[in-house]
Amino acid sequence: MKKIAVLVSGGGTNLQAILDAQKAGVIKSGKVTCVISSSKNAYALERAKNADVPAVAMTRADYGDGLCDAICDYLIEQKIDYIVLAGFLVILKGKILKEFENRIINIHPSLIPSFCGDGFYGLKVHEAALSYGVKVTGATVHFVNEITDGGKIIMQQAVEVRDGDTPEVLQKRVMEEAEWKILPLAIEKVCSK
Ligand code: GAR
Repeated sequence: MKKIAVLVSGGGTNLQAILDAQKAGVIKSGKVTCVISSSKNAYALERAKNADVPAVAMTRADYGDGLCDAICDYLIEQKIDYIVLAGFLVILKGKILKEFENRIINIHPSLIPSFCGDGFYGLKVHEAALSYGVKVTGATVHFVNEITDGGKIIMQQAVEVRDGDTPEVLQKRVMEEAEWKILPLAIEKVCSK
């Protein structure tokens, strides 16, 4: 059984999808043993607590430029096998990328290589897709390397864009039809290897 750490910054609906998939047996080769939030008041911390998963906040305010290294040290100490970025808004840099090479996965709310890279996160991704006028968008799960959203793709799911979509409406559809499904599947795929 692989030990998984989930890193979050906000609402944590993807964390919830992972915890639910674990309960349902969709994820069976790994177990979430630790949640780290980059924000002290992220609702994701409540979700972890409700599922009895140990959770800590590690913030820029507390660690400054040493944040990524501190997270790395903590995850080594916790003997974590895989790191899942589920709406984690800190770009990982430095030794953690080497230490956990091919063991960090991220969910991004578009079909990479569209609408990704530095500055594309959360609603901004959907705003960009709508303003470009694409008719299909989706979500991508990929490995994390030193290039933002540039690591090898593990899984993708397309979602249609509909007339009259707002960024919020599109975000919800992408989460429901793509993110919450492929993230657990990709985690199981990686952990079962
Ligand atoms: C999700 O849509 C996730 O794909 C996105 O942030 C949201 C977090 O929601 N991540 C990125 O944009 C990363 N570049 P959640 O906290 O409810 O899971």
